[in-house]
Amino acid sequence: MISTFVTSSADKSGWPESDFPEVVVVGRSNVGKSSFINAFCGRKKLAYVGNTPGKTRLINFFSIDEKWMLVDVPGYGYARMSKAMLQKMGDMMDEYFNERQQLKAVVQLIDSRHLPTSDDKDMVEFVRSLGLAVIVVATKIDKVPKTKQVKHLKDISKSLHIPLSMILPVSSTNKTGFEPVAEKIEEVLGKE
Ligand code: GTP
Ligand code: MG
Repeated sequence: MISTFVTSSADKSGWPESDFPEVVVVGRSNVGKSSFINAFCGRKKLAYVGNTPGKTRLINFFSIDEKWMLVDVPGYGYARMSKAMLQKMGDMMDEYFNERQQLKAVVQLIDSRHLPTSDDKDMVEFVRSLGLAVIVVATKIDKVPKTKQVKHLKDISKSLHIPLSMILPVSSTNKTGFEPVAEKIEEVLGKE
C-alpha cells in the first residue's frame, strides 16, 4: 500500500481538490485514531500521535494508493480544551461532514476496554443520519485479556446496534486486525 500525506486544513478553503472517495476516522480523543492510520498504512509517523488527548487539531488527508483518502480528524469528548477551541473544532467538523461531497464512509473507533460513551452513540447516530456507511473498529484490543475480548466486542455491538461482524478489533501497537478493516473499506467503497 502506498500512502502519502496530502494536506492539513482548518476549513473548507484548505480541502484538497480531488475526486477520490474519502473515509474519515472518528472517535473520542485519545482512542487511537492517528495510531490506527499509521498502522493501517504501515507507517510510523504519517499521522501525529500523542500521549495526551487533543493532539490532532486539524483535518488531515492521506492518499491511499491514489485511489481513495483516509482522513484524520480531532477527537471529541476532550473536556480540558478551551471553549473557543472546542467551538472552532466543532465548526470545522460540521462543515466537513455536511459539505464534503466525496465523503463516503466513516470508521468509528471505540476503545475496546470500555463500553461506547454517550458521545460515541451520538456520533454513530449522526453518521447514520447522513446516510454514510459505518465501520466500527475496536481499538487497543491488546489491552483486553484474550478471554474477555469476544464479550467486549459483543457489548459494543449491542450498545451501538451494529452487527458483531461489523465490529473489527485492532491493535495498532501489535499491528493486528488491519486486513479485515482494509477488506471492509474496499467493500464499502466498491458499493458506491
Ligand atoms: P487525538 O488526536 O488526541 O484525538 O487522539 P487519537 O485518537 O489520534 O489517539 P492517538 O493515536 O494519538 O493515540 C493515543 C494514545 O493511545 C497514544 O499513547 C498511543 O500510543 C496509544 N494507542 C493507540 N493505539 C493503541 C493500541 O492499539 N494499543 C495500545 N496499547 N495503545 C494504543
Ligand atoms: Mg489524533
